[in-house]
Order: sequence, then structure tokens, then C-alpha cells
Amino acid sequence: MRIDIVTVFPDYLLPLELSLIGKARAAGLLDVRIHDLREWATDRHRTVDDTPFGGGAGMVMRPDIWGSALDSLLRHDDDDGKSPHLIFPTPSGQRFTQRIAESLATAEHLVFACGRYEGIDSRVPQYYREIGYSVSEFSLGDFVLNGGEAAVLAMIEAITRLVPGVIGNPESLAEESFSGEGLLEYPIFTKPPVWRGMAVPEILLSGHHARIAAWRREQSLERTADRRPDLL
Ligand code: 6GU
Repeated sequence: MRIDIVTVFPDYLLPLELSLIGKARAAGLLDVRIHDLREWATDRHRTVDDTPFGGGAGMVMRPDIWGSALDSLLRHDDDDGKSPHLIFPTPSGQRFTQRIAESLATAEHLVFACGRYEGIDSRVPQYYREIGYSVSEFSLGDFVLNGGEAAVLAMIEAITRLVPGVIGNPESLAEESFSGEGLLEYPIFTKPPVWRGMAVPEILLSGHHARIAAWRREQSLERTADRRPDLL
């Protein structure tokens, strides 16, 4: 999978060199390239933003600079017939979910456009949609970040861990929260069997696999009803 990220803070994406994603890059499973938006700026000060039409606080990222950046990243795709998916992280986007991560995990090429300040001129996603690209605007939840970078780190981690080969033990994917039935994961325990006077539920030490499975399912349901009733 090829991933391009455009940002005014390339160093914000340095964690993508670490851990499983770093290893998957080294192994050639992921081709991640980080680009500084200011490379496409045209003036001496490398300006990428301007004041909002209609007034209001803050600055808006300019469509001309974003257009140059995205054109140059998308152009190369046509050569090998891959169709990139363009993703704009924004608090006003559609909610990013495990189902969306699953569907993007099979994509050949993802391009993430990180907005800062008050965001990117709204014509940019609209333009790339109109000329035929798959374009998504995703939010992580009902809160506001200073820019798309932290959200892109989260989305890339959620997506790439579902790419075959990135995670050593794919069975661990099947049982976690939101997989399968879409319930929260049951509580988990390891040794010692008693810690600070707190014992592990006895059923887990019983060796009765069917009863353990039934207990875990019940716990998943209870936990989901308590913490995330909206999922039931
Ligand atoms: Cl994707 N971006 C920003 N800036 N803030 C957010 C978000 C995204 N998701 C939740 N808050």
C-alpha cells in the first residue's frame, strides 16, 4: 500500500517510523511518503493560508497551493492504473469507524491532506470529487484538534494494522472491540491470579472453553450496554 501525507508539520508524522508501521515500511509492505505543503508555495515567505471570505477568526488554507500539491501527487498514479483515495481529516467530516478502516485496508493508494488553522478551502475536496477521485472527509469524533496530523496518525494505524502481514498474529484482530458483531471487547487478565487482593474470574482458570466463550460474550454485551449503548 502506498500512502502519501501532505502537511505543514512533516515532523508530526515521525512516529510512523516506529513499531509495527515502521517494520512494515522496512519490509516493503507500506510505502509511506511525507510531503511538506510549503514545497508548493510560491512566494518568498512560503505562505499557505489567507483570511476567510465572509470574515471570521483565523486563517484558511489556500486552494491554489493545495491544488498544486495534490495534482503532483495524484498525477503519478495514472501511469500504473492505481486509483488513489483522497482523505481530508476534519472535525466536520463523516465519523471514521472500524468498518471504514476495513474498507480502506484494501486500497492501493491513500493520500491524506492535513489541514491546519481553520481548515482547507472547501472547493478543494469538491474539485477532486468532481473530477472523479474517491474523496472522503473523516472525523475521529466530537472534539476539535489543532490540525489533521494527529487524526491521520490514528487513521493510518487503524487502517494499516488490517493490511495482511502488518500484524504478526492476525487472530488477535478477530476478537477485538468492533470486530465481528461490533461489541466492545470483554475484560482480559494475565498472571498473577491474585493481584492486590483482586482475583481473576474463576471461570477463566477452569479450562472449559465453551463456558469461557459464553462468559466472554456475556461480558461483552454487559460492557457495551454500560459504556456504549449506542452500539447495541
Ligand atoms: Cl479528523 N481533525 C481535526 N482537526 N479535529 C478533529 C478530527 C479531525 N477528528 C476529531 N477532531
